[in-house]
Amino acid sequence: KTYRIAVIPGDGIGKEVVPAAIEVLDQAAHLDGSFQFEWTTFPWGCDYYLETGKMMPDNGIEILKGYDQIFLGAVGMPNLVPDHISLWGLLIKIRREMKQSINVRPAKLLQGLPSPLRKPNDFDLVVVRENSEGEYAESGGRIHSGQDEVAIQNAIFTRKGTERAMRYAFEIAKTRRQHVTSATKSNGITYSMPFWDEVFVQVGKDFKDIGQVSTHIDALAAFFVMKPESFDVIVASNLFGDILTDLGGAIMGSIGIAPAANLNIERQYPSMFEPVHGSAPDIAGQGIANPLGQIWTGKMMLDFLGYHELGTRVLNAIEATLAQGIKTADLGGTSTLRDVTSAVLNHLR
Ligand code: NAI
Ligand code: MG
Repeated sequence: KTYRIAVIPGDGIGKEVVPAAIEVLDQAAHLDGSFQFEWTTFPWGCDYYLETGKMMPDNGIEILKGYDQIFLGAVGMPNLVPDHISLWGLLIKIRREMKQSINVRPAKLLQGLPSPLRKPNDFDLVVVRENSEGEYAESGGRIHSGQDEVAIQNAIFTRKGTERAMRYAFEIAKTRRQHVTSATKSNGITYSMPFWDEVFVQVGKDFKDIGQVSTHIDALAAFFVMKPESFDVIVASNLFGDILTDLGGAIMGSIGIAPAANLNIERQYPSMFEPVHGSAPDIAGQGIANPLGQIWTGKMMLDFLGYHELGTRVLNAIEATLAQGIKTADLGGTSTLRDVTSAVLNHLR
């Protein structure tokens, strides 16, 4: 079997970490022996914008629809192209038009890394964030003026969107430690969150073997730090998920290792796999960027394609590399991108 992957390295360190991750993924496919990747690289991003006035061609979305998945590095050259142009012209456009309504971000304290937690045990969780509606729905406005001015922002929770995120969280829990926590705030938000809780209970009935609990978001954030061992999969609304994933990333130690995926779980369009970090212009072109976030993101693509065991082997190779002390500067080490990539390839063999 051949998977056709559209590759958008983008800008800055995206151009360095994406080829590193592709090397690792090719080796993983080779190890498995039952499939291969066919990579097609698109030079879209800020350089393309400076030449053409567009972040990608007008038919870019149509072109991408012809591929199985999208593997993206990062976009942004803030000194030359305003961030809202680079973001909305490429990333957000792809997320929206491909209906990638679920954002998944694992967070794990990897072997070989120091922990900011008092009890550094078992921080290994996945946040499933509803990515298309909720608090970030574009609904509301401003009325009156002066002392009477009022700003209104509506949160929109559809049954379909809510169920979709929850169902996916339960499906992931099946492949992990069989537990889902729902992030709620029904003691303070009186319409949407009680609805969220109801849907959670309803969806949960289809997953009787999976542990399930609702926790208020404020307490949940504290428990991330105080008792991380109590979490496996967390399902959260757009806003709550946004905040929790940044907290998770911070606990992991560096934004340079944090992976993410924007999923079209209906598999009607390609999903997009991209690390959490940006193009890091401050270190771009020096060969010192941490490739582990992009490599771990590649592991998420393997998982999504159904190769869970292979994905686990990639993550094990990442941990073995760190445990050996082979780390880039963001993790306090002195190794280069090349050193880290070679070590991961060695451990994967
Ligand atoms: P950033 O994530 O690019 O960098 C933040 C800090 O983390 C920098 O000091 C950088 O050197 C460091 N860092 C990030 N990734 C690293 C890695 N793999 N290895 C070692 N160090 C790493 O965020 P920043 O500086 O706010 O944004 C830079 C540009 O990237 C902007 O244009 C921004 O809009 C864009 N951006 C793009 C994203 C995407 O494509 N998904 C996500 C976040 C930012
Ligand atoms: Mg955020």
